[in-house]
Amino acid sequence: MAENPDQPKKGTNNPAAKEVYTKAGNLFEENKFDEAIEGYSQAIKLDPKYASAYFNRALAFAIVNKYDEATKDAQRVMELEPESHDAPYVMGIIEEYKKNYTGAKRWYERALELNPKYEQARARLDQLKAKMDRPIEKETEEPIKVNGKQSEETVVEDGQIKSVKFHRSNIKFSDIVGMKKQKELIHQNIVLAIKKPELLRAYGKRLGLGVLFYGPPGCGKTYFVNAIGGETGSNVIIAAINEIIDMYAGNTEKNLHRIFEQARKNTPCIIFFDEVDAMGGKRDGGGDGGGSQNFMRMAVNQFLQEMDGIEKNPEGIFIIGATNQPWDMDPALKRSGRFGESIYIPPPDYKTRKQAFMYNTRKMPLGRINFGRLSRATIGFSQADIAEICDKTALIPAAEEDMTGRRRKILMKDFLKMIKQHGGTLEAWYSMVKKDIVNKTETTIVDGKKQEIVKEGKLSPEEKSKYKALVNDVKNNSNIVIKSLKKAIQLFSLYVA
Ligand SMILES: Nc1ncnc2c1ncn2[C@@H]1O[C@H](COP(=O)(O)OP(=O)(O)OP(=O)(O)O)[C@@H](O)[C@H]1O
Ligand SMILES: [Mg+2]
Repeated sequence: MAENPDQPKKGTNNPAAKEVYTKAGNLFEENKFDEAIEGYSQAIKLDPKYASAYFNRALAFAIVNKYDEATKDAQRVMELEPESHDAPYVMGIIEEYKKNYTGAKRWYERALELNPKYEQARARLDQLKAKMDRPIEKETEEPIKVNGKQSEETVVEDGQIKSVKFHRSNIKFSDIVGMKKQKELIHQNIVLAIKKPELLRAYGKRLGLGVLFYGPPGCGKTYFVNAIGGETGSNVIIAAINEIIDMYAGNTEKNLHRIFEQARKNTPCIIFFDEVDAMGGKRDGGGDGGGSQNFMRMAVNQFLQEMDGIEKNPEGIFIIGATNQPWDMDPALKRSGRFGESIYIPPPDYKTRKQAFMYNTRKMPLGRINFGRLSRATIGFSQADIAEICDKTALIPAAEEDMTGRRRKILMKDFLKMIKQHGGTLEAWYSMVKKDIVNKTETTIVDGKKQEIVKEGKLSPEEKSKYKALVNDVKNNSNIVIKSLKKAIQLFSLYVA
């Protein structure tokens, strides 16, 4: 966050004031804004000229929507520090929150007068100007009520989520091809907790809060979430990280809060955090250093705090996270145990691919199809690949009929043609993540002698064992011998039989 509460502004010579101020800063970091406000107030009592304390209290007030108090504090900062460019900037944000756009514009301009290189004020001003040029805006303050009906798209304005879209799905578990074990696990961990919490409670079972789905792309993580929604009749909120994270004061926290609040009002509800590895800090240099790292941290903190709230009253709410690279997830999220169970959603094996072809063509007029051969020809393909291949294959005879006027069934040759054309998408993904997992031997010449250095993948032994199934899949699919064998099977099925 730009307005880092730790940022040294005009300090104090009073050590006691400094101490409570620091404590309040920690509370602020933990998103305990009301407590932080109390702390800053104490610091101000001890040193009534403590500009930084006023400044941070103004931020905290603004976040909890107490704009009058926030304004007073920001004005006090300007009295104490007439040259401060931050105080007018915060005034701008407050006025913008209050929808006084003309006032906000003046404050941003003032901040820029004091510091012409003030990027954030500049960005905010540009955004505001664009908004003021637009014709009358639709009021979207009140979120759209659902209960059964689809709501509109999620509405985000100036980095703040105004209303949340609830998805309703007709997909059932019977629509999921393969994955018997996963279905069982998910039935026990999620479906029962939503549909029959009293049954679990009768046996003294704690209701789970969340699970994490991990696995290669296109293999059914999102599809599973929709099936759970359909199976339990829940609303599903797809919480897109890029809609939640915003660089301006307090928006990220507000957005997360809004999502959880909406979920609580519309139970049973599943909140789905797709690409949850994008939230928080990645291990190797995710984000661009200080700034973004900071509000990512705020997001993780707020998320954990919202989860705590649910832990006290878990009925009807379930959180699902999904990631392709679980080892890149923020350690705080993993450690917290909030995502109790991690469930691997694997790429389809021979039998599953065969079933997938049958499932995806069930409504098509088919000639004689050798499903076993189709499955062999798509070794290493994802479920998404197969769904898309089936869909596109149907276009071949359709386009033909359009030209010739003659109707015919969909034939084996159509599928084979489309498989060749489409190809599989997993291979590229495996070679991309290989470096994270597989140890690599590098040869260097030191003093004329050859030296071999083994470079470790970035997974800890713990992670290697926790995500073993995925690790093995990545290893097998990066192993040159296994890869070429698979390729041979695929080519033989495509071109011979
Ligand atoms: N088990 C399954 N049964 C039937 N169809 C499936 C299954 N898994 C995936 N599909 C099909 O593949 C498509 C892509 O799957 P999905 O979007 O769930 O992948 P994902 O794991 O979420 O991928 P990503 O990591 O890229 O988000 C689905 O829309 C669906 O058509
Ligand atoms: Mg997905």
